[in-house]
Amino acid sequence: MKVLAICAILLVALLQAVTASVFSQLQFIKIVSPASGATVQAGENMTIKYTMQPLILDHVAFGEALSLNVKFHSRSGNKKQQLLTTIAPKCPVTAKESKYVTYTRQWKVPANTKPGSYAVEFNESFRTRGGTFTATETVKIHILD
Ligand SMILES: *[C@@H]1O[C@H](CO)[C@@H](O)[C@H](O)[C@H]1NC(C)=O
Ligand SMILES: *[C@@H]1O[C@H](CO)[C@@H](O)[C@H](O)[C@H]1NC(C)=O
Repeated sequence: MKVLAICAILLVALLQAVTASVFSQLQFIKIVSPASGATVQAGENMTIKYTMQPLILDHVAFGEALSLNVKFHSRSGNKKQQLLTTIAPKCPVTAKESKYVTYTRQWKVPANTKPGSYAVEFNESFRTRGGTFTATETVKIHILD
């Protein structure tokens, strides 16, 4: 019994270490696209792609994503500037019990977007045993003429 309990604790610690390294900023979601530093042509599609972490252990989930939206900002250097538009107000975040789920959608960069530096901000609301929180992760991209 005691050994089982210790094994369970070790397993939990291991899973937390694994998820912490894979899901560095957003909780339970990994952004696949756009990649940091990606370049996109004005007027062309940009791929928004992310992966939901499995719920790991039935009834012993560490938490889950509740909502996700994606926004488009101008940027200078590492500083996000003006919010230009919302790319996706309500992205699906449904996760599966024991496998990763990937969601993909296209967003057409407005044709009149000036070439330059931009930021794609992923804004997540998530729940853990400690409560409900929000987290944001910003991907720096460049728009070409
Ligand atoms: C661009 O994305 C839209 C959906 O937003 C889609 O209908 C269209 O087929 C895509 N175009 C290309 C070239 O992938
Ligand atoms: C992120 O989304 C949540 C829930 O929709 C909202 O309350 C929060 O203000 C948003 N934060 C940012 C930085 O957009």
